[in-house]
Amino acid sequence: MRSAAVFFSFPPAPLSRITPRMAKKNTAQATWGGRFSEGPAALMLQFSESVSFDQRLAPFDIQGSKAHAAMLAATGIISAAERDAILAGLDAILAEIKAGKFVWDTALEDVHMNIEQALKKRVPAAARLHTARSRNDQIAADMRLFFKDAAARIQDSLTALLRVLLDSAAQAQTLYIPGYTHLQRAQPVSVAHHLLAYIEMFGRDHRRFADFAGHVNWCPLGSGAIAGTTLPIDREFVAKALGFTDAKGRPQLTPNSMDAVADRDIFIEFTSACALCGTHFSRVAEDLILWSSAEFGYAVMPDAFTTGSSLMPQKKNPDSLELLRGKSARLQGNLSTLLVLVKGLPLTYNRDLQEDKPPVFDSLDTTLLCLNVLRETLRGMKLNHARCAAAVSDPLLLATDLADYLVRRGVPFREAHHAVGSVVALAEKENVPLNKLTLAQVRRVSEHFGEDWAGVFDLETAMRSRERTGMPGPKQVASQIARWRKKLN
Ligand code: ARG
Repeated sequence: MRSAAVFFSFPPAPLSRITPRMAKKNTAQATWGGRFSEGPAALMLQFSESVSFDQRLAPFDIQGSKAHAAMLAATGIISAAERDAILAGLDAILAEIKAGKFVWDTALEDVHMNIEQALKKRVPAAARLHTARSRNDQIAADMRLFFKDAAARIQDSLTALLRVLLDSAAQAQTLYIPGYTHLQRAQPVSVAHHLLAYIEMFGRDHRRFADFAGHVNWCPLGSGAIAGTTLPIDREFVAKALGFTDAKGRPQLTPNSMDAVADRDIFIEFTSACALCGTHFSRVAEDLILWSSAEFGYAVMPDAFTTGSSLMPQKKNPDSLELLRGKSARLQGNLSTLLVLVKGLPLTYNRDLQEDKPPVFDSLDTTLLCLNVLRETLRGMKLNHARCAAAVSDPLLLATDLADYLVRRGVPFREAHHAVGSVVALAEKENVPLNKLTLAQVRRVSEHFGEDWAGVFDLETAMRSRERTGMPGPKQVASQIARWRKKLN
């Protein structure tokens, strides 16, 4: 599985690098201060700043600004010399940010104004950069670029996880365990089949992020604050420069300026895909927690991803798995935050929408971290073959096969089900394993049981009888593994 182009990213600067500035009379907001006689209160600045978290958008913001400047020159709105000065200035600022030398200023509110003000200090032409643009379409574009990168990164982590899951499955194709429904023993499956179930889920997650990346791929620049611009801009130019194009290289433009600045569908879709992926890794985690308990004993988790108890010397706790289960709750919380944030807002942009970013950033960071931790925990997991074999030797797991045996001998399934139920009850009463009843005993329940009735309890035969698509038969499992192997190479 290949994902889309990967943009670079880097950790946000530590908060200590952010200078909390006191409000200065009418100078703090050079970008919109014209109609104000007094600067914002220090408390207001603290309340309204977003640069402490949106600074991580800087590479995308600069990418967008460079495309915008190039378009302004191509349409004759600024000169080529002004464009070149702006591009060089933006490159220098990006280098400074990457080197951790850029000083972020909360008094300048957000990532956009920090960069614009820094550019203004370097080049006079900076004053023309914001022509035909608003922070409303700017943030919409920044986030679309961010989302493309985020989806590609999650897809890469999912692919790495899928490979480890597949390796584990390949090694456990004939290692059988009880499969459970209601957490009660149900029917035998191979560990490989069980792991393949998760491979399917994470495979769908992978496709979901690919679909999501397609939904994101529309350029909102040119929407302005709400109603576009009177200036003769070229939206197609910008869309092409930023890679908002279809398979044939044709630019894709958001078709409604109000929708483009007000809607947050893609934010909700992203956190939803993360939350769903989170429910998947939470469920694997829960299965592995059970498997590594003394009661199940199917698996031993690696020391490197477990912890001890400060009091009980014997303890080895599956903390990585418990945290995976726990952190998936955050992903669901982030989705709820966004749904509630957006639902009552009148069109178009409202400042509430600044709160859309922390949940998105947290969902990306948490999802990546969790996928990596799950992958490494699985990589170090050891399966206890003896404990698996002991558990799967329970003949009750094949009670359904016994009913199928009667069906093959002409008994209607409902009758067969009832007869086997009576045989199970008899074994329980006699306190013997189901397959240790005598032929005479079972024939008293149904005359359709023949000499060969106990042959049903041969596990290998039972597994080989399940070879149709999607079933846990060894050939079927091997072919699913081969299919995934091909996909992941
Ligand atoms: N930092 C702002 C946000 O993410 C950018 C848009 C600000 N627009 C505005 N009209 N104040 O919401």
